[in-house]
Amino acid sequence: MRGTYRGYDIVSMPLPSSGGTVLIETLNILEGFDMHGMGAQTPASLHVLIEAMKRAYADRARYLGDPAFSKAPLTRLLSKDYATKLRADISLDTSTPVKAAAAAQPHEGTDTTHFSVVDAQGNAVSNTYTLNFSYGVGLIAEGTGVLLNNELDDFTAAPGASNAYGLVGYEANLPGPGKRPLSSMTPTIVLKDGKPVLVTGSPGGSRIISTTLQVIVNALDYRMNIAQAVSVPRLHHQWMPDEVRIEHGFPQATRDALRAMGHTLVTPMGQTSANSIAATKGGWLGAADPRTRGAEAAGY
Ligand code: DON
Repeated sequence: MRGTYRGYDIVSMPLPSSGGTVLIETLNILEGFDMHGMGAQTPASLHVLIEAMKRAYADRARYLGDPAFSKAPLTRLLSKDYATKLRADISLDTSTPVKAAAAAQPHEGTDTTHFSVVDAQGNAVSNTYTLNFSYGVGLIAEGTGVLLNNELDDFTAAPGASNAYGLVGYEANLPGPGKRPLSSMTPTIVLKDGKPVLVTGSPGGSRIISTTLQVIVNALDYRMNIAQAVSVPRLHHQWMPDEVRIEHGFPQATRDALRAMGHTLVTPMGQTSANSIAATKGGWLGAADPRTRGAEAAGY
């Protein structure tokens, strides 16, 4: 999936991963806001981030599924015109309410891994892989040592139902013979003039997309170095349930300001790990996400 953001090219996952589509739709919405001017992680910029996530995740629920079985209006969803329309509906000081849904509390798995690699020639790899939950379905294909995944949970069990991450879906993502479920995995490479400048992604179920988004916004809009871009606190809104999942670390005044705008804040956000690499004048700079024990950045 390809898009652009402030003159950068964004290359990320095609369907059935919803990552690239939701990421690019969200970035398109944000492009019309002066994120840099609003300041890194201020109530104003966080509010805009939440509202953009909310709308793009709503479209994920409504339209996305295995492209072999359902036709999502991708050209429209990824167009700048559509983003302009969505943006027009965002109030700068009040949260837009989402229809209430009795969604289950999200459950976080611990299996998924993301790594970013750039070699000495500048070739970049962004890779996320998963069994979905710990040990997948808990079965090994006999004689192989290979654990079987439980990606069936990435389908929507019935229209309007939510999965273990609280993601709601409809007809487009129902299971069926030969169908592939939607994924949120979003391994992403950002290029400038055809050359990689940022390699990023994360585990974290539904939080993968919003995590990847915030690393990109932190790096491109707020000009944070990659270690900061990865480590500063993150938040997440996925349309339903209508709540902002928020990490510890945001100042109390910021939380209060978001609540005053009508956002419901819930802690914790869930585990993510955005191990990323960025191009700097001095060469490649890698950052392991401090949220993950044992994550490492290694250089050559
Ligand atoms: O593909 C997906 O969206 C999920 N199976 C990812 C699961 C995941 O990230 C679990 N790990 N934290």
